Amino acid sequence: MAKEPNSKLQDIISHCKEYGFVFQSSEIYDGLQAVYDYGQMGAELKKNIKDYWWYSMTRMHDNIVGIDAAIFMHPTVWKASGHVDNFNDPMIDNRDSKKRYRVDHLIEAHAAMLDEAAGKELISKMEALLAADDFAGLKQLIDDNGIKCDISGTGYWTDIRQFNLMFDTQMGSTSTEEDDKVYLRPETAQGIFVNFLNVQKTGRMKIPFGIAQVGKAFRNEIVARGFIFRMREFEQMEMQYFIKPGTQKEWYEYWKETRIKWHKTLGIPAEQYNFHNHVKLAHYADAACDIEYNFPDWGFKEVEGIHSRTDFDLSRHQEYSKKKLTYFDTEENKHYVPYVIETSIGLDRTVMMVLSEAYEEQDLSTAEKQDSRVVLKFAPHLAPIKLAVLPLTKKDGLPDVAKQLMDECRPHFKCFYEEKDTIGKRYRRQDAIGTPFCVTIDHQTLEDKTVTMRHRDSMEQERIPLDKVKDMVLEKIKQF
Ligand code: GAP
Repeated sequence: MAKEPNSKLQDIISHCKEYGFVFQSSEIYDGLQAVYDYGQMGAELKKNIKDYWWYSMTRMHDNIVGIDAAIFMHPTVWKASGHVDNFNDPMIDNRDSKKRYRVDHLIEAHAAMLDEAAGKELISKMEALLAADDFAGLKQLIDDNGIKCDISGTGYWTDIRQFNLMFDTQMGSTSTEEDDKVYLRPETAQGIFVNFLNVQKTGRMKIPFGIAQVGKAFRNEIVARGFIFRMREFEQMEMQYFIKPGTQKEWYEYWKETRIKWHKTLGIPAEQYNFHNHVKLAHYADAACDIEYNFPDWGFKEVEGIHSRTDFDLSRHQEYSKKKLTYFDTEENKHYVPYVIETSIGLDRTVMMVLSEAYEEQDLSTAEKQDSRVVLKFAPHLAPIKLAVLPLTKKDGLPDVAKQLMDECRPHFKCFYEEKDTIGKRYRRQDAIGTPFCVTIDHQTLEDKTVTMRHRDSMEQERIPLDKVKDMVLEKIKQF
């Protein structure tokens, strides 16, 4: 991607590559569009976020359990869920450049270049037309506003058409039969719905209860740009909460509140978040909103969706599978198809949000010398490495003491050992990957068994007993 002037996001993307957070997939072959790999630091960060979400759901709520369903599902699942018929985005092609655009993205990009009032007016017109599926009206809106292709520079557009976002493939080695077509799941949610009764019965779950899942999802995104914000292969963390029909409003509010509280525990202040209520509801929802984060350069963009999905999914699976998917409510003494509140957060988007919030370029120059650093101020429980253990020199037995400390801490949290370069350089490298604590073992350690503990954000240093290091770090990285 070409670097735009003063683009904080571009700086973050470059930093991610330089320090092993995110690489373009198959980079040595020039990459694959909108597919990314996580490097050694990114994989740790992503796993910490994933684990934190998993434990927040399945450990902190006695009535939420987790499952791990397969990516491939019976093709009828996607017919029943509505994805075969409805999981479309309106697209438009520029006849000159042959470039295809998602209509909402094309209009949004144009609105962003207008003054605030005009931009808002354009977006609200677009939302009304999208809600009415009025493609002729949308095309007219594009024409009336003189919206041009960013490659050809012309406004020579095709009509607007729907484009299905699911990837499909064939099950079996030689088959090309339409009947053998399987899809790569475009959301993890359906794996939960089709297992609703299995889990309810085997877990003797009583409504209200939730089923959580983390896993890969695939969408053939047309306008796939924005680093790990919009990918073709990504990961979702979804939870379906099964409730009594008629209670959906109160549970919807409950989950909005619970989820925003969780977001704030990522070390991100409240003002960086926003709720956006959907105008055009998805085919399964009776209420829906997004939790948006204020990304650098872009402003507020969706990270998580909270959807009141009614009994749409279970009823449809009941209809298509011809299997009963009802729950017997012993208090009410009746059978019903439960309603569902869904919380659905993109893991990769959360990684990008956490990286964006953490990234800071600091000018540390003094009258005597120029200095600066890039620091990733991750919440300690999310940081890829929690503690760096740094012997001041390679001699005098300091590495032995440092290695003993590594042995003590390693089973409890991720540590990093380094003896090369000056302490200052080593601190800077740890700042750049967001390590919250560095411990330096020096000659005084040999005398009085104390070490220097250096704090990433304040850069303050304190002397603490060597045998207190592990417990101090454990206390600071506590999640709950
Ligand atoms: N089961 C509901 C569902 O899938 P969604 O709003 O389409 O709802 C939920 O997706 C979340 O998944 C989004 O808020 C976003 O964080 C993430 N997500 C969706 N498409 C994505 C993509 N192409 N790349 C990365 N994350 C994506």
